Amino acid sequence: MLQVRVVPGIEDKLKGFFPWIYRPEISSFSRKPKKGEPVVVRDFGGRFLGYGYINPEVNIAVRLLSFDKKEKLNAELIKKRIREAYDYRKRLYINSNAFRLVHSEGDLLPGLIVDVYGEYVVVEFTTYGMSNFRKDVVSALIELLNSKGIYEKVNEYAQRIEGFKAQEGVLYGEVPERIVVWEHDLRYNVDVQEGQKTGFFLDQRNARKLVRGLVEPGDRCLDVFCHTGGFALNMKRAGAGRVLAVDLSQKALEVAKENAKLNSLEGIEWVRANAFNFLRDLQRAGKRFDVVVIDPPSFAKNKAAVPNALRGYKELCVQGLRLTKRLGYFAIFSCSHHITENHLIEVLTEASYGIRRQVRVIAKTFQDRDHPWVLQMPNTLYLKGVWVEVL
Ligand SMILES: C[S@@+](CC[C@H](N)C(=O)[O-])C[C@H]1O[C@@H](n2cnc3c(N)ncnc32)[C@H](O)[C@@H]1O
Repeated sequence: MLQVRVVPGIEDKLKGFFPWIYRPEISSFSRKPKKGEPVVVRDFGGRFLGYGYINPEVNIAVRLLSFDKKEKLNAELIKKRIREAYDYRKRLYINSNAFRLVHSEGDLLPGLIVDVYGEYVVVEFTTYGMSNFRKDVVSALIELLNSKGIYEKVNEYAQRIEGFKAQEGVLYGEVPERIVVWEHDLRYNVDVQEGQKTGFFLDQRNARKLVRGLVEPGDRCLDVFCHTGGFALNMKRAGAGRVLAVDLSQKALEVAKENAKLNSLEGIEWVRANAFNFLRDLQRAGKRFDVVVIDPPSFAKNKAAVPNALRGYKELCVQGLRLTKRLGYFAIFSCSHHITENHLIEVLTEASYGIRRQVRVIAKTFQDRDHPWVLQMPNTLYLKGVWVEVL
């Protein structure tokens, strides 16, 4: 196996289980590396540090899957990791048949996402090295899950960076256009082929549950960036009066409407609009709500985009707080890796000060527990939500 030695000083972060090696941190190779091949990582003096795979063309050159000398990076290790990931999910007793089975670095399987939707599975490869294990991943999933179908979703952004091209499509069995899953006491249509991400925002499961406890019968509620209706449906099921839900995606709204029907929930108004303009219009029209949830897409794809993104989050906080009645609840989320929990609290504080609306924090939520994050990489805690009561 190819041997990679790191420059002096880098060994400590690997001994502390940091799972990436950047290109300038490599001092030498035992031979010319091939894109995607497994490697043994050693310190400058040749002592073992871990196993991973390499892509010499990108900045994150090596991703590690193991810090244990007894393990080897091969099909068996991939299978073992997937089995362990599954055992962990079983222990969570998730109240749904839809869950994230593999969460990349969070499951020591960098570059691999696996989502389970009832009897179907969606896989996504985000690195060249992991895509080399496609066959092993599929056979491990077939063995473990007895699924009817496995679908490969393509992440074009990741493929462009890593320099590989995969075909989106069915890898095993059959996958229907719509899959119906359940979460708590609601059912959802999931469109894995045309939908965003792998079809459903599994990471907000705990937040959808939280909103149920905040809505009182008859409340007026607002779900901004509603996608297929996750929050709006829960608000309605909790007994809300009028629910307004807005998203820019026509496709997401079509599925949202189907979801309302599927659960026999009436009285949700689905609006296709740019949320920023829509919020300003609601504000000008003097509308007010008891519960407002704002769950935007990631505004900061890289560090350089952070200042602009923060302006966007602040604008959403200002509008959201203005639209929330006194003693009503407001929640703001960020799913960007580059926006920290502190960033979100700062913009919310600035918004509260700016419009002189006092709030108190009643909860914080993060990606649900089937999306574990890596302690050494704080930005893998990518989904943050702050919930406040407006005083
Ligand atoms: C993070 S998702 C929301 C997930 C949703 N809350 C759920 O639980 O399923 C973000 C959503 O924002 C929508 N979106 C993106 N830009 C938008 C904009 N400018 N105005 C309204 N919606 C937008 C996307 O279509 C997507 O559905």
